[in-house]
Amino acid sequence: MNEKKHLNWAILGCGVVANEMAVALTKAGKSIYSVGNRTYEKAVTFSEKYQIKKIYKDFREMFQDEAVDVIYITTPHNTHIEYMMEALEHGKHILCEKSITLNSEELERAMNLAVKKQVVLAEAMTIYHMPLHKEIKARIDSGSLGEVRMIQMNFGSYKEYDMTNRFFNRNLAGGALLDIGVYAISFVRWYMKLKPTSVSTQVKYAPTGVDEQVGILLMNDAQEMATVALSLHSKQPKRGMISCDKGYIEIMEYPRGEEAVITYTESGKTERIQAGSSTDALYYEMEDMEKTILGEEDFVYINYSKDVMDIMTQIRKDWKMTYPEEE
Ligand SMILES: NC(=O)c1ccc[n+]([C@@H]2O[C@H](COP(=O)([O-])OP(=O)(O)OC[C@H]3O[C@@H](n4cnc5c(N)ncnc54)[C@H](OP(=O)(O)O)[C@@H]3O)[C@@H](O)[C@H]2O)c1
Repeated sequence: MNEKKHLNWAILGCGVVANEMAVALTKAGKSIYSVGNRTYEKAVTFSEKYQIKKIYKDFREMFQDEAVDVIYITTPHNTHIEYMMEALEHGKHILCEKSITLNSEELERAMNLAVKKQVVLAEAMTIYHMPLHKEIKARIDSGSLGEVRMIQMNFGSYKEYDMTNRFFNRNLAGGALLDIGVYAISFVRWYMKLKPTSVSTQVKYAPTGVDEQVGILLMNDAQEMATVALSLHSKQPKRGMISCDKGYIEIMEYPRGEEAVITYTESGKTERIQAGSSTDALYYEMEDMEKTILGEEDFVYINYSKDVMDIMTQIRKDWKMTYPEEE
């Protein structure tokens, strides 16, 4: 796809996750070509911290910078589509933080433009890139555990009720589904043969009107089932469990999982699987992205992102819950 072997990365945004990616890239000996941020002064501080030579006065200059090959977008959910479309229009490859868009219609637009411009568009969803999840998927695909029957997911954190933070702020596309549900549903999609087609839910809203607590029941045409429990104002373990004919697999801290335990039904024996490191999660995303751009890997994960986005869009439609951009 691309004859260059060295790719110039630009980072859009200088918040929590942008810092994590910069640390991961620096640790891996990669250099970041440029950075842009809404608040220019923060971009300057960021550039000094990670020795980035190019900073844009106006971050939108990054979209037109001919030296930039790939842009990592780390701004809030509701801004993704606007920046993605502008960058894609200029032929940039895009790795965009989760949730990649607000809804399916936005994602479809971006996917179509990426195809037209022949560039790679991907969601920075750690689950698709962690070595552990690749290894467990290979194990399941080999058939050694039999069929996947039931998947059970938890994700809950305690966030203070604060309108200004992005978790509860409707104007920043807050809510459990887009912030943490996206991990749980991506996990479910990753391990299921087919996209779930039957979806039912229960929801409790936060004082700000976004979804605070959610229960989801999913099933696909292969009759694989999943349950998902999400909460933004009460802690839960980040635990994923895949129940198969011959045993079950448990993965703690699954968004950046590095260890899983398989319990075999017949013998009761357990097996521990270790692969990768949670601290390198963003590095794996970047590596997969580079390999795909350079034509060394076939990247299909955007299709999983689309399935997940379709499910989340349908759920919010059922709730009649919209964001200001959708009204
Ligand atoms: N935090 C995590 O652990 C984590 C993990 C994975 C994914 N993510 C995802 O990454 C994204 C960012 O999360 P974060 O925690 O890094 O957020 P954050 O710390 O609040 O940083 C947000 C960044 O976006 C910029 N920004 C805000 N509104 C903007 C706008 N309208 N136009 C342009 N730039 C804007 C901010 O610029 P200013 O400096 O001007 O405020 C800041 O640089 C979200 O999509 C989130 O879901 C976060």
